Amino acid sequence: MINVDNLFGAVLVVWIMVTSGIRFGADGLRMDYYIMSCPLAELIVKNTVNTALQSDPTLAAGLVRMHFHDCFLEGCDASVLVDSTKDNTAEKDSPANLSLRGYEIIDDAKDQLEQQCPGVVSCADIVAMAARDAIFFAGGPVYDIPKGRKDGRRSKIEDTRNLPPPFFNSSQLIGMFGQHGFSAQEMVALSGAHTLGVARCSSFKSRLSNFDSTHDVDPNIDSNFAKTLSRTCSRGDNAEQPFDTSRNTFDNDYFNALIRKAGVLTSDQTLYGSTRTRGIVSSYALNQAMFFFDFQRAMIKMSLLDVKEGSQGEVRQNCRQIN
Ligand code: HEM
Repeated sequence: MINVDNLFGAVLVVWIMVTSGIRFGADGLRMDYYIMSCPLAELIVKNTVNTALQSDPTLAAGLVRMHFHDCFLEGCDASVLVDSTKDNTAEKDSPANLSLRGYEIIDDAKDQLEQQCPGVVSCADIVAMAARDAIFFAGGPVYDIPKGRKDGRRSKIEDTRNLPPPFFNSSQLIGMFGQHGFSAQEMVALSGAHTLGVARCSSFKSRLSNFDSTHDVDPNIDSNFAKTLSRTCSRGDNAEQPFDTSRNTFDNDYFNALIRKAGVLTSDQTLYGSTRTRGIVSSYALNQAMFFFDFQRAMIKMSLLDVKEGSQGEVRQNCRQIN
């Protein structure tokens, strides 16, 4: 006869396994992936990120962008971290990646993890955790991500053509993000990462002169803000322009800037210029909680793009080199 207490116990165990993300297969990503093999993994990454950002808060932006550029090419597999060799020019040496920052933070976390639990924690997981911790450090939403990504064995400069260029319009952005399974709303939420950090003059100077056959300056820029951008560019191609008024704080100010026509990149301003995305920008500008909620969900989704599991990848010994 079935004992009701035992049945209840069995149902409870299954329920706990399901809700805590414990899967039944050997592979698979899980929230508690490192609980037995490296229980301090999350803590080590968080402490490393916090220490680094306390001395240089501008690096939060670098870590978030690094995660995006990793996931959009070959999936979230740390391909962005690989150094070029004499036989291979890697992603990081593409013009689109030259201003990526924060590699030392990943190396530092990896060194500590290799001492604690050698060969266990992938560089891809470190990048994903570091981006999440950077967002929280900067005042953004807190969220948990499944772990268990494996590191990839390919990193090629030519793959970086699949990163969105700063001159894309809203339809082109919707198309490119759609190829990765994101809705227009998720694309706008993810673009809100531009609440952190800067763009260099070279990324927006085409908006300031000889813009098109009828306009010298992009008509979608507020005239005072165009002067601000020009002043920045008077200091050279590498001069930095913050995306919003609080470059190290994660908030919804970026969306308010777009409404003021003070978006830095064409791809930023187009989100408000286009009827397909304007309403989403307005909602996020009005409602920061809604932006945070959508952003963290879209980031978790991004962190799962084309992840490699099991023998599809490896755990690199050194994040800069394929084993
Ligand atoms: C929607 C399409 C996007 C385009 C066209 C784009 C383009 C750019 C460009 C051109 C820069 C400045 C690079 C430079 O001048 O050095 C930049 C910076 C940045 N991007 Fe994006 N981006 C996009 C989406 C995203 C997403 C989805 C994220 C993250 C989830 C992100 C995070 C960042 C961050 C944080 C920075 C500042 C980096 C720093 O200060 O070091 N971007 N982006």
